[in-house]
Amino acid sequence: MEINQELVDAINDQLNFELYSGFIYLSMATWFEEHYLSGFAHWMEVQYQEEFNHAMRFYRHLTERGARVIMKQIDAPKTEWNSAAEIFAEAYQHEKIVTERIYKIGELAQKAGDQSTQSMLIWFYNEQTEEEKNTMELRDKLKMIGDSIAALMQLDAMARGRPPAEPVPS
Ligand code: FEO
Repeated sequence: MEINQELVDAINDQLNFELYSGFIYLSMATWFEEHYLSGFAHWMEVQYQEEFNHAMRFYRHLTERGARVIMKQIDAPKTEWNSAAEIFAEAYQHEKIVTERIYKIGELAQKAGDQSTQSMLIWFYNEQTEEEKNTMELRDKLKMIGDSIAALMQLDAMARGRPPAEPVPS
């Protein structure tokens, strides 16, 4: 079954949005580095790699379906924040937007009767549950610790233990 153009465009846009997400997280990583929070910087570097892997999953799906991928301009991300808590609050909000966008692609795929795309998206539905949970938990923990530097350092040390991003299966 040939993939329809509306779906190609939506997936292509999402591919670019995943790259934009990666830029946001790498920008957050460098803010953490500057503020001596290297554990959170590491966490965000892994997140950046994951976003590029997400983009590659969409890229592969379009390529396998015989569609042409169009690389588009990526907006510059924000560069300044007031605190680690603010960063994770924004990361959580951003992930909710990503989830909504992916659900919309799912609706388009369903409308088009495109089961191949629907099957590809199942991985993303699960991934988004995980992404929202991870950012929400860190947002809440950072909110809970308030101004405690000792607790912030402890959380930073925990964030350093985040394992590397899983490679995209070929
Ligand atoms: Fe690719 Fe964080 O969503």
